[in-house]
Amino acid sequence: MAKRRTLLFGMTISLIVFGAALIFFSPSVNQSAKLPTSPAAIARGEYLVNAGGCVSCHLAVDAQGNRDESQLSGGHALATDFGTFYAPNITPDTETGIGGWSAQDFLLALQHGRSPEGSLYYPAFPYRSYAGLSDADVLDIGAYLLSLEPITQRVPEHETPWWLNRVALIGWNALADWTQGSVPSSDTESNDEEFIARGAYLARSLGHCGECHTPRTSLGVSQLSREFAGAQLGEEKIEAIDREALAEWTRDNFDLFLLLGIKADGEFVGGDMSDVIDHNTSRLTDADRLALAAFFTR
Ligand code: HEC
Ligand code: HEC
Repeated sequence: MAKRRTLLFGMTISLIVFGAALIFFSPSVNQSAKLPTSPAAIARGEYLVNAGGCVSCHLAVDAQGNRDESQLSGGHALATDFGTFYAPNITPDTETGIGGWSAQDFLLALQHGRSPEGSLYYPAFPYRSYAGLSDADVLDIGAYLLSLEPITQRVPEHETPWWLNRVALIGWNALADWTQGSVPSSDTESNDEEFIARGAYLARSLGHCGECHTPRTSLGVSQLSREFAGAQLGEEKIEAIDREALAEWTRDNFDLFLLLGIKADGEFVGGDMSDVIDHNTSRLTDADRLALAAFFTR
């Protein structure tokens, strides 16, 4: 056991060193992409920000703990096994927010978890899920965020253990790339493949359902081969929502759940999930809600 632990420790350190080397190589994003400015793009961006659940974390919370869900100036504390993280101000304030961000800044942040300075974000920001977002969706999100009224609000510094710094995150992301596995191929009998593919995009990328419902290793890496098999989040046990767990649910059950939070057995869902319903799934268009339901009950 002790030997295995030493080996694991050694491997983790090597990964960190390897990761430090990687910092010099920035991921490539489309250099000619531009942020759209049309009202239509901004409206699409607002829809995507709702569908992506950004409000659940980036809502305004002031020092007294007052919440304002109509603003995205940050301050909400996310308590995790690896420290407490404060969601930042994502209004276009140039001092304390993301004023002046380019198309490339948004692509790097959402698809690669990289800040404009090139360092990595903590995965309390679910960028490993948002990595699957299309360029067009990220750019519309950026257009919407930059259209908001700038709000000056500085959020508290993250509270993390000493060993968990932004350099260690490079090693962690490399470890996650290598050990997360892959999702089992979806053996659907259904013939509306395009519809289900849209549902999969909403579930896996934009809606990041797996961030809470997919089990993780002790190092916090999602186990994609057991996608949606349920997880432990601190004290809280989170139900499985894989096909086996949802065997009794119909498409209509699931659709109603996403709209109102009523489960197949007639009970209301609670905990963090009621927040997901309020901020995210209940605001989807009928077509997107049905696509998500079709994906989960395929
Ligand atoms: C589960 C909580 C959570 C959700 C959901 C979330 N974020 Fe974040 N986000 C964070 C945290 C925490 C950070 C800070 C990470 C860090 O400092 O390393 C962050 C950072 C960011 C940043 C970088 C800000 C900066 O000043 O560098 C942007 C931009 C951002 N998020 C946009 C979004 C958008 C757009 C969405 C929805 C599509 C979203 N976030 C959803 C928690 C979240
Ligand atoms: C922030 C974490 C979080 C995210 C993100 C999340 N869930 Fe949940 N979900 C929960 C928790 C916690 C529960 C259990 C709530 C309770 O105790 O009633 C739950 C319960 C559920 C249930 C009920 C399961 C049952 O049998 O009782 C379903 C279905 C579900 N979630 C679907 C989804 C879908 C679909 C998404 C993505 C759009 C999603 N969840 C995203 C935390 C989350």
